[in-house]
Amino acid sequence: MEEMKFDKSVFFDMSYGMYILGVMDGERPTGCVVNTVFQITSEPSVVAVSVNHDNYTNGCIKKTGMFTVSILSESAPQEVIGTFGFKSGKDTDKFASVPYTMNEAGLPFLPDNTCGTLTCKVVDSAELSTHTVFFAQVIGGVRRAAGDPMTYSYYHKVKNGKAPKNAPTYLKDEDIPKTAPAEKWVCGICGYVYDGSQGPFESLPDDWKCPVCGAPKEMFKKQ
Ligand SMILES: Cc1cc2nc3c(=O)[nH]c(=O)nc-3n(C[C@H](O)[C@H](O)[C@H](O)COP(=O)(O)O)c2cc1C
Repeated sequence: MEEMKFDKSVFFDMSYGMYILGVMDGERPTGCVVNTVFQITSEPSVVAVSVNHDNYTNGCIKKTGMFTVSILSESAPQEVIGTFGFKSGKDTDKFASVPYTMNEAGLPFLPDNTCGTLTCKVVDSAELSTHTVFFAQVIGGVRRAAGDPMTYSYYHKVKNGKAPKNAPTYLKDEDIPKTAPAEKWVCGICGYVYDGSQGPFESLPDDWKCPVCGAPKEMFKKQ
């Protein structure tokens, strides 16, 4: 029998959105980027989200049983995704650099560059080997006119973004087909492509850092 083919880049054709989970860590707001929110029932309205066991946000959801989902629009800056998707609330105060509002349930959400926000209460969960899938009833929803929602595919293709190891959709470099012939300097952590605004990459100072995730210059690779 022929060996089963498994081209992992097939996952790039699955469609997802881009979201920021907002949670409370005691008195402090925190959260992270996820692409794995989807609605699973209508009455009651229940969504599911998959959160890595190592993400600080996971423990906060388990403690409080509540979270918000801010739906990122295409206008969301890379810095927001860099802060919420590549740094941890363990050692970073993420909301210190991103404008936020507290809702009536006492949870943080992003009012800017988002199409809307759901407020969710956990009703069940499933533990997988690396992730917890939380099932949560949507108890509040606000819609904002902020352009089109950002899809995961838009994030990859237009924003040139990557997903870190904790994202369920993470792919190793060798699983991604190489297509780009033009030379560019790409951050090995978050996928940011140096825009050349400060001169040639080679002449940037040694202490220069990725403007999105803060990775040092040596983490950039020429492609
Ligand atoms: C595009 C993108 C999608 C992501 N999707 C998920 C996801 O669905 N689930 C998850 O657990 N982590 C996901 N992550 C990774 C977390 O956002 C990341 O590990 C974050 O640093 C965790 O922060 P925390 O430790 O403060 O919770 C994603 C990151 C990016 C950039």
